Amino acid sequence: MQEERLESLLQENRMFKPTSEFTAQANIRTPEIYEMGQEHLSFWEKQAERLDWFEPWKKTLEWSPPFAQWYLGGKLNASYNCLDRHLRDWHRNKAALIFEGENGDSRILTYQDLHREVSQLANVLKSLGVGKGDRVTIYLPMIPEAVISMLACARIGAPHSVVFGGFSSDALRDRINDAQAKVVITSDGSFRRGSIVPLKENADIALQDVTCVEHVIVVQRTAHQVNMQENRDIWYHEALKTASLDCPPVPMDAEDMLFILYTSGTTGKPKGVVHSTGGYMVGVSTTHDWVFDLKEEDVYWCTADVGWITGHSYIVYGPLANGATVVLYEGSPDYPNKDRYWEIIEKYQVSILYTAPTAIRSFMKWGPSYPQRRDLSSLRLLGTVGEPINPEAWMWYYKYIGGEHCPIVDTWWQTETGMIMMAPLPGITPLRPGSCTGPFPGVKIEVVDKTGKPVPKGGGGYLAIREPWPAMLRNIYGDPQRFEKTYFGEWPGIYFTGDGAKWDKDGNFWVLGRVDDVINVSGHRIGTMEVESALVDHPLVAEAAVIGKTHEIKGQALTAFITLKEGSEIYPTLIDELKKHVVRKIGALARPEDIFFTAELPKTRSGKIIRRLLRDIAEGRALGDIATLADTSAVNFLKAMYQD
Ligand code: WTA
Repeated sequence: MQEERLESLLQENRMFKPTSEFTAQANIRTPEIYEMGQEHLSFWEKQAERLDWFEPWKKTLEWSPPFAQWYLGGKLNASYNCLDRHLRDWHRNKAALIFEGENGDSRILTYQDLHREVSQLANVLKSLGVGKGDRVTIYLPMIPEAVISMLACARIGAPHSVVFGGFSSDALRDRINDAQAKVVITSDGSFRRGSIVPLKENADIALQDVTCVEHVIVVQRTAHQVNMQENRDIWYHEALKTASLDCPPVPMDAEDMLFILYTSGTTGKPKGVVHSTGGYMVGVSTTHDWVFDLKEEDVYWCTADVGWITGHSYIVYGPLANGATVVLYEGSPDYPNKDRYWEIIEKYQVSILYTAPTAIRSFMKWGPSYPQRRDLSSLRLLGTVGEPINPEAWMWYYKYIGGEHCPIVDTWWQTETGMIMMAPLPGITPLRPGSCTGPFPGVKIEVVDKTGKPVPKGGGGYLAIREPWPAMLRNIYGDPQRFEKTYFGEWPGIYFTGDGAKWDKDGNFWVLGRVDDVINVSGHRIGTMEVESALVDHPLVAEAAVIGKTHEIKGQALTAFITLKEGSEIYPTLIDELKKHVVRKIGALARPEDIFFTAELPKTRSGKIIRRLLRDIAEGRALGDIATLADTSAVNFLKAMYQD
């Protein structure tokens, strides 16, 4: 199936060259930039000059695989780079954040406003005993306080761990415990399609099994009643009232940890991806400037949640380091109407929009009448991220949102890469619908075979990164062995992305998707093992196997195959109960779309589940009828077919 999709992608020969008008005004206009990028070290050395350093670095790179250190000896502060340095001139009065609440409330914070509130919150954190190196977990909706909290942590050198507000209390608890956070910042709730998500309540449940957390700071967002635990919980707005405006940024070593962000991998336990301060900031600010062709007067909107890496790198650190005006939207694209995104673009005259293919596929389904009722003429550049974009969705985005004049930058990267690794530079790179084109200057990506050798152009294999890059993850929190094994275990010194891809004869990359046990559902990474462990945690379930089934909107949807314990009976509400169980263990994003019961799971002789067979069954290719799987002889028959 994947092969078929790829073959049809490779037949895709539409090409869109940059227009001369766009190139004339582009930040990057000459292809020589790619040659400069070949000189990897001098290229990244030069890019580091875009930041303000308290002390210059002495050595650009120290590479002892799998550990890289960039800008050794340099000292800087991420919050200083995102805020203080913009206060020197008129930028202090430039809008940094334009916040639009789901209910239509809005708030605009200038760089000076943001600096003030960040400094105050940083002082509150200090007064609670948070110092350099202490971890803070942030569990907030898409409101300005989420950005403020991240920058306040960065200001005092306390690594943050943002947990997406859609995660359940169990998932939150595991992440708090793994990071051993001292403080949690949450809110009374979050607005979602007109109802309230009880974030504080979730945090309270999570904290029942946590001993490391000393205080909880609670932002008032929904103003509904919540429990405040004496001596532990503090209202954000009350604490800020008396907090000093003056909080000097702590000079951090370039290699000091800026944040931890949990992501799914091939085991049941999420990985705490560790990012550095110096290299990360250089990577995200350079890529944000060039890929989005950022201009002083742009209104930039990235629709991701700050709980994901896209929010970290391209809502907070990249854009704010570059002094951009950033739109932050709290809610969903279809609330109260299916034209909400287009309404926001019209209202704030958004010029750059960065969103995900899954959203675009929903817009396509809803039809062009929604964008057509709004004025989208302010848009000048579009971006996508999170999963492969199918050429039809690309063309729809190009036509109906971009009015056939906005370049689309399809950006390939990962939580681990920290920054965009492959994307067109819109002033010089011809666009190919469905391809993220090629590597960013200074980045060396290849398609390799099983032995780590590059395959010839035109061939396919695994996507691998040959040289270290500044924003690369530095470690998995508390688990360097897993770090080495996961990313550098396949081929020493070469980073394995977990993705499969082909490159065509012109060198364009066509990313297929994950080749490991990670499923990409609506652009969210979900580990099959995580969902399987959640299912097996249910008292009636003996075994579970989860696969990704092709889905029109989500890209992939989770399908679970289950065997029940001896003597357990299937009853009508069991499927629903199992789905709810997964939601409780992980969050709604991991809810299986379909659950099938079977007498046994098809396994190889060595006991590995034959997922390819399950995928073929779910997508109706193997024997068609799921019911036959409940019969042991049928399972054996199917197994024999797939044994090769
Ligand atoms: C997939 C999101 C194709 C890929 C920034 C990768 C993509 C995973 C693209 C990382 C793209 C992301 N084209 N596939 N433009 N962007 N992916 O960590 O499989 O949430 O490995 O980071 O998303 O997901 P993550």
